[in-house]
Amino acid sequence: MMPNPAEKYRPFPQVRLNGRRWPNRTIEKAPIWMSTDLRDGNQSLIEPMSIAAKLEFFEMLVKIGFKEIEVGFPSASQTDFDFVRKLIDEKRIPDDVTIEVLVQSRRELIERTFDAVEGASKVIVHLYNAIAPSFRKIVFNQSKDEVKALAVEGTRVIKEFAAARPQTHWIYQYSPETFSMTELPFAREVCDAVAQMWRPTPDHKMIVNLPATVEAAMPNVFADQIEWMDRNMGFRDSIVLSVHPHNDRGTAVAAAEMAVLAGADRIEGCLFGNGERTGNVDLVTLAMNLYTQGIDPGLDFSDIDAVRRVVERCNQIPVHPRHPYAGDLVFTAFSGSHQDAIRKGFAQRVPGMVWEVPYLPIDPADLGRSYDAVIRVNSQSGKGGSTYLLERGLGFTPPRRVQIEFSHAVQQITDASGAEIGGDAICELFKREYFDAGGPVSRVDVSTLSVFGKRVTVAPPASATSGDAYAQTVAAALGVNANVNWFETAMTAGGDTAAFVGCRVGDGPARFGVAVHANPALAVADAVVSAVNRSGRVVGSVRQDEAVEA
Ligand code: KIV
Ligand code: ZN
Repeated sequence: MMPNPAEKYRPFPQVRLNGRRWPNRTIEKAPIWMSTDLRDGNQSLIEPMSIAAKLEFFEMLVKIGFKEIEVGFPSASQTDFDFVRKLIDEKRIPDDVTIEVLVQSRRELIERTFDAVEGASKVIVHLYNAIAPSFRKIVFNQSKDEVKALAVEGTRVIKEFAAARPQTHWIYQYSPETFSMTELPFAREVCDAVAQMWRPTPDHKMIVNLPATVEAAMPNVFADQIEWMDRNMGFRDSIVLSVHPHNDRGTAVAAAEMAVLAGADRIEGCLFGNGERTGNVDLVTLAMNLYTQGIDPGLDFSDIDAVRRVVERCNQIPVHPRHPYAGDLVFTAFSGSHQDAIRKGFAQRVPGMVWEVPYLPIDPADLGRSYDAVIRVNSQSGKGGSTYLLERGLGFTPPRRVQIEFSHAVQQITDASGAEIGGDAICELFKREYFDAGGPVSRVDVSTLSVFGKRVTVAPPASATSGDAYAQTVAAALGVNANVNWFETAMTAGGDTAAFVGCRVGDGPARFGVAVHANPALAVADAVVSAVNRSGRVVGSVRQDEAVEA
């Protein structure tokens, strides 16, 4: 990189716009969406889609709810031509869906395009030509007048072909390619001249689509450009103002959102932001951003994983694990403090209330994602993570002091392995540690304990709340200084009782025992036994000859 990039690069000029309105507006409804996955997206692939892949993609777009779909560039590709014919000949286009086809301003290409869409009931014919100074100068060596004349002539030819085929409902779309790098007055001049030729009316609008073919400025600059066009373009009430942002600076989503504030009615883009270079604007993110603001996007991503699988298969490009809303990891918290906050958010959530779970901008269930991946445990995690997975796996929340002790056991494992530990493994570890810990004491039946192989009769606890007394009896049966210093019960999700007992044998540290049973008294009994065994194991002080009949 250069020490002084100003020697090579210039800042993008600001737009002179007095009293800009877009910053004070909010988006209150979804724009018209147009998917260009099968055209712009497809043109950017290493291996363009086969007809079968295009069909699978098309049907998925229809299912999601797209009403406008750019199906190809039939004059430039035989596959696209054949695909468009297949859609029409096999009557695969639903009545409420309009297909769109791209074409350049050349009579023979326009003719071939009309051949491709012959027989369709409704079609958007999309003409484009580049109009920015660098293209006029470097690529085409054309004057402004020549560039404008090309756009107008293409429009005239399309109008002529459309008029000769009145059985189809034609909608005309013009894109001044490279719009965002064009002098605004010239962009308006070209769009006005095109509209003048097409003569749209409020009842039969045309689409003027303004692309950031290469994103070269901040999104507020794009918004200014769109507001300027919105204010100054002719035929405004007869035009659907569309935008087509690319993502070269990584701000296409912001640019599209601000463009809507600035007056855009329609957005063209691709699912998960596929497209040339850094991609087209990501329509999934845009739609879900609206949804999280309480606005129905009109697109259904309730099974986002299924959509992602089709897109990945057809594009042969994976969706990044951190891709907004869709990535494998975007609803996952590894960090301890995040896990704790999420767990509390879920615990306090009342179904039917407004969504408010820390660190989760959207309910993963709305996208068909399960809660299983929300919290995953590795060495960065704390007790909140393991507790969440225990809650999900075992159906109860261990008391805080048990959580803290258990999280140390988990930490030791994840530190040693350097890897993640899954929910099943966590539940197994918990059971191994706290349930039926094994040792000198075991429960034979309701009122019989085996202590070092000797049968000891112990009256079972009368209820879960009398567990303390039962524990003292067990301690007495052991004939050791076993103090049950704490106990607690909870209901499991399945309606059983989970009992948690803390016990200290001799001078040793307190240890916990846990048990789950349909009979609350037996849950307490088993938890006491497990706690005594664990505690005795630690101290090693419970010897066979210490056991006495109670
Ligand atoms: O990026 C672009 O400018 C285009 C046009 C054809 C709309 O894809
Ligand atoms: Zn594009």
